[in-house]
Amino acid sequence: MALSDRLEKIETEKARVSGINKPAPASDRQRKGASAGPSSWGQMKRQVRDALMEELGTKLYAKSNAEELKAVVSEHLEPALKRAGIVLPSSQRPKFVGELTADLLGYGPLEELLSDQTITEIMCNGYNDIYVEKKGKLVHTDVSFTDESHLRQVIEKIVATVGRRIDESSPMVDARLPDGSRVNAMLPPVAVDSPVLTIRRFPAKPFTIHDLIRLGAITADAGSFLEGAVLGKLNIIVSGGTGTGKTTLLNILGDFVPEDERIITIEDAAEIRLSQPHVVRMEARPANIEGAGYVGIRELVRNALRMRPDRIVVGEVRGGEALDMLQAMNTGHEGSLTTIHSNAPRDALTRLDTMVMMAGYDLPVRAIRQQVAAALDLVIQIARFGDGSRRITHISEIQGMEGDIITLQDIFRYSFDEGGSASATSSGILKPTGLRPKVIEKLQDKGVDLPARLFRPKAEPPAATSRLLSAANGRRSPR
Ligand SMILES: Nc1ncnc2c1ncn2[C@@H]1O[C@H](COP(=O)(O)OP(=O)(O)O)[C@@H](O)[C@H]1O
Ligand SMILES: [Mg+2]
Repeated sequence: MALSDRLEKIETEKARVSGINKPAPASDRQRKGASAGPSSWGQMKRQVRDALMEELGTKLYAKSNAEELKAVVSEHLEPALKRAGIVLPSSQRPKFVGELTADLLGYGPLEELLSDQTITEIMCNGYNDIYVEKKGKLVHTDVSFTDESHLRQVIEKIVATVGRRIDESSPMVDARLPDGSRVNAMLPPVAVDSPVLTIRRFPAKPFTIHDLIRLGAITADAGSFLEGAVLGKLNIIVSGGTGTGKTTLLNILGDFVPEDERIITIEDAAEIRLSQPHVVRMEARPANIEGAGYVGIRELVRNALRMRPDRIVVGEVRGGEALDMLQAMNTGHEGSLTTIHSNAPRDALTRLDTMVMMAGYDLPVRAIRQQVAAALDLVIQIARFGDGSRRITHISEIQGMEGDIITLQDIFRYSFDEGGSASATSSGILKPTGLRPKVIEKLQDKGVDLPARLFRPKAEPPAATSRLLSAANGRRSPR
């Protein structure tokens, strides 16, 4: 859309919105309703929807079944029309009720975006300012809500369907839709300009390691190493910025855990979906309006330790739970997995220091680092490249301490083709550095024998030595 068109559209919308928001005198509304032409059809729907909302509140959205909802709408239509001051010919009522129900059932203009499987993220910054992430790229859309109250109603509805509520007194909600998508909503005045809604879609089919190999995010050899690392119970932390694919990779790593182990997953919003039969899932909970009922990741980690876990998978460490996690890793709960928000393996370790300090014990830095060095085996770094792709840039092992410093050694590192960089379209590959990892011995103790050629810089044609390798080879295109 050209800028002038866009401006014009915004101006018309503004005029319309301010007209609507002003409470018109009853006689005036009556007139408007009586002369309702096709152009005000949408407006009428909204007025009736508002009236229904006023009367029924979020109960309206509790009806997830179209027929039930239709019955409720039909039943309350007459008073709602009256309240909105609208006269609707009876011939038009079935159509009106049908459309209104569809509006109420669905997510309005978001439906169009939600049905597009290539869209992975929807960001509403305002009722007519909606961005999506499509195939890894951020794009502005022409989709818009009728006005701010429409956006707000859809937010309230989404939040209500998951049994939460959002209003001025608790203006932020982080929730999960039944399909697993993650929703974050925020109302003014916390959100300065308008209600803000962010939806991270859940991929219909979760990524597998084979998808990552196919997408060039990892090589089959590095994938085999990670598979072995999980089987051999190494403690692993996945590091990356927002939206780099940390949770996705955590899920894939979690899927490598053998089926006879008891896995406990702990998250802010339950995103991890493991395919093993023996999984216990926990989700943190924010405080309610009265400030009670808070259950944080830290409490959940501590509780998980009393539940005889074989593996603890924590969605992300952000604070004091890092200490509990490290202690767990050091005290027989090996093979634990988590993620951390950070841009380089070394930074991840520094962030861990800070987080452990947040646990509130006055521990000397050196003691913290010793704990980290003893607990963690691998840091996997992921990054998002300029072309929208997400790739693993480092797989580094923690070797121990040298003085006060944790020694970190890259086993695999992304190497750009000549002239390449992460900000441009990437061409390069995750290469072994050629160093034989120290963790190999630890893995051997656990009965996991990895072929030495995985770590040789010049990749030879891989032999089908592991479950992953053989499957990956089967998919490899004959290039
Ligand atoms: N290797 C990848 N290539 C392309 N897209 C990916 C990859 N890994 C993850 N994604 C997509 O990127 C988005 C963010 O992934 P997610 O794992 O939730 O990131 P994070 O946990 O780091 O915020 C999701 O839509 C996911 O499907
Ligand atoms: Mg995540």
